[in-house]
Amino acid sequence: MSPAYKAAIVGAGSIGHAHMDGYSRVDEVEVVAVVDPVANAREQYQREFGISGAYETIEEMLAAERPDIVSVCTWHLLHPAPTIAAAQAGVKAVICEKPMAIGTAAANSMVEACDASGTKLVISHQRRFTPGWERAKELVAEGAIGKPEFVNIKVMDGLTNWGTHAIDGSRFVLGDPSARWVMGALERISNKHERAVPIEDACMGLIHLEGDVQLFVQSDLYLEGADAGVFLIRGTEGLLDVTETSVRLMNSDRGGWQDVELNLVEGARAIGGETNAAQVRELLAWIEGGPIHRGNGRNAAVTVEIMMAMYESARQNRVINLPLEETEYPLGLMIAEGKLPLDYPEPYDIRSFLSWEGIDGEDYATLRAEGVPHARALMKLHGLDGPPGRPDR
Ligand SMILES: NC(=O)c1ccc[n+]([C@@H]2O[C@H](COP(=O)([O-])OP(=O)(O)OC[C@H]3O[C@@H](n4cnc5c(N)ncnc54)[C@H](O)[C@@H]3O)[C@@H](O)[C@H]2O)c1
Repeated sequence: MSPAYKAAIVGAGSIGHAHMDGYSRVDEVEVVAVVDPVANAREQYQREFGISGAYETIEEMLAAERPDIVSVCTWHLLHPAPTIAAAQAGVKAVICEKPMAIGTAAANSMVEACDASGTKLVISHQRRFTPGWERAKELVAEGAIGKPEFVNIKVMDGLTNWGTHAIDGSRFVLGDPSARWVMGALERISNKHERAVPIEDACMGLIHLEGDVQLFVQSDLYLEGADAGVFLIRGTEGLLDVTETSVRLMNSDRGGWQDVELNLVEGARAIGGETNAAQVRELLAWIEGGPIHRGNGRNAAVTVEIMMAMYESARQNRVINLPLEETEYPLGLMIAEGKLPLDYPEPYDIRSFLSWEGIDGEDYATLRAEGVPHARALMKLHGLDGPPGRPDR
């Protein structure tokens, strides 16, 4: 029997491969097409996975293939257009990569287009399917740490890049509370970009959620142990130390930290594999009338709003009550308004390299061990200067 759902991948890059890895584990789905304007990329992808259709534009693909599901695996600024095109073509579902969008107007345009066509929209915060986060969510709901009060998050490589996972993930573990207010601060003294989006050198924020639980986020400040999949939750009765594949609990019943037993599914890595497959399976259930997907677009739009409010707080020098009024990209607006003078004006992009091809992992590890920051190590290994950044981070 042929698979029930036809899927198409837009963007044949690194995460486009992870989506294929996920779909390949789900019998009900067959990937029938790939879209990429770079001929080499789409042809290589087509050969690698034996896909029948390869297209230069999404419009050609939608007209020719009429897929049920479209995976949007392009860079952030190219998330809304293909999502909206797919919705308007009447596809059943879109799985779009994180961060959902840059600015709440862009995020909301995706939600609205999908609502209008009845398209199910999922944003790929696939770590929601890791065993550590799932178990932590259960423990919080069971009251294992009493009432959650504070969550500590430490990420790097840009707030919108890693921060989206950690903010989204802690909201998931806490039961997806909405946000009440946000206060943020940022520094941008070098002309830093991440996948073509201007980003901060460093930032931090305090996010006050419904139920009076707060998230503290620091990004690109203290890199030691920074991880998009890790957070520490303090409740009135205990602590939870959460990673994607481990949970440690300390509360009044336990004499110190204790590991929590997890149902570790083979291949449940943070990216690709089982997490992506689980994300697809939950989507199929949603299409077939089951419960709304845990990674649904409306929920992910809250995470976008929180990150944008951190920037807007820095822009306005005040606490931002939500909903956020500014719908464009506050950091971009600050740059345009001349609020972020640069000590190092040469633009650079920490993800301008399509892959790790040509980079020696051991050389990278040596540089990092010498204290060279991640982005600078990548540039060095590519024989490039900079980025300027701050040598002490
Ligand atoms: N969920 C995760 O854990 C995770 C991990 C990595 C990346 N991502 C996200 O995935 C997105 C893509 O990142 P990446 O690292 O895979 O990038 P990449 O550069 O490896 O791949 C992007 C691909 O998109 C293609 N492309 C460009 N314009 C296009 C268009 N108009 N239509 C179709 N294809 C087009 C490019 O040619 C390239 O092949 C980013 O938003 C990133 O944040 C998510």
